[in-house]
Amino acid sequence: MKIFVDTAKLNEIEEACSWGVVDGVTTNPSLIKKAVDALKEKGKKVEMVEYIEEICRTVGKGKPVSLEVISLKTEEMIKEGLLLYEKFNPVADNVAIKIPICTYQPEATQSHYEGLKAISKLSSQGIPVNVTLIMAPEQAILAAKAGASYASPFAGRVDDLIRKKLGISSNKEEYFNFKLLARIIQAKLNKHLDSSLNQQISTLYQAEQITLDLEMANDQGISSGVELVKQIAQIYQIYRIKTEIIAASLRNAQQVREAAQAGTDISTIPFKVIEQMLEHPKTMEGIKLFSADVVPEYRQIFAK
Ligand code: E4P
Repeated sequence: MKIFVDTAKLNEIEEACSWGVVDGVTTNPSLIKKAVDALKEKGKKVEMVEYIEEICRTVGKGKPVSLEVISLKTEEMIKEGLLLYEKFNPVADNVAIKIPICTYQPEATQSHYEGLKAISKLSSQGIPVNVTLIMAPEQAILAAKAGASYASPFAGRVDDLIRKKLGISSNKEEYFNFKLLARIIQAKLNKHLDSSLNQQISTLYQAEQITLDLEMANDQGISSGVELVKQIAQIYQIYRIKTEIIAASLRNAQQVREAAQAGTDISTIPFKVIEQMLEHPKTMEGIKLFSADVVPEYRQIFAK
């Protein structure tokens, strides 16, 4: 699995790249905003073109940097995608253009498929496109069909939606045990089914309690963000689809582990979550014990 760092903060990108584990970077307008706000807070002026050039250079040749378009109409998205690509790809030959899978907004004039058309157009011109805001396997199928190089399922945001439906207001950065949730739901269903076995199957199938439980604990049949990644990976494998999956919107180390198990090609991970992936209390304890046990004879080897 490749690791991308999910940030637009240059200091974080530089630091993570120096660890030798970074295969690429993903940005979006919100991440750019965070980076710009942080610089402004320090009284620094941001020259955006130079700043993005520096990101591309730092990450290095062949390691994709995703830059997102800001319009929601096909023609504008294509123009913006070309502009971003022509401006920044020459720096290190590593730019991917991020385009949302669906642009529909009920109050606006653009249709559902403006993004899809822009994805096809840019991909057909050989520009790597990272399709963003994927929340369902069907969207990932369309992204691949349109020729995208990358499909980004937003695992964390799907989890947020399911937790909200269930009325669970845990901190969204904390690991949420969806496997346990599935077992709870199954146990509830079994109990309900056991007590109603004398009823007709059709009555049982439509029983309010059953449908309620089933509907609440998932989003359109997807029981968690990691399950979304898993289902996309299964579909892509069946049809030998070349589009690479970028598990995105990951909020903690356990989610990264589960995304890897689900078969993602790439995980894009916030800086502090990469740090979290390294931490373990027994590792900390072990390092203390090893340091305390160094005998002078052994230390001597390292003396100048
Ligand atoms: C990366 O491509 C995504 O834009 C990012 O992971 C979104 O993360 P968030 O849902 O935590 O904002």
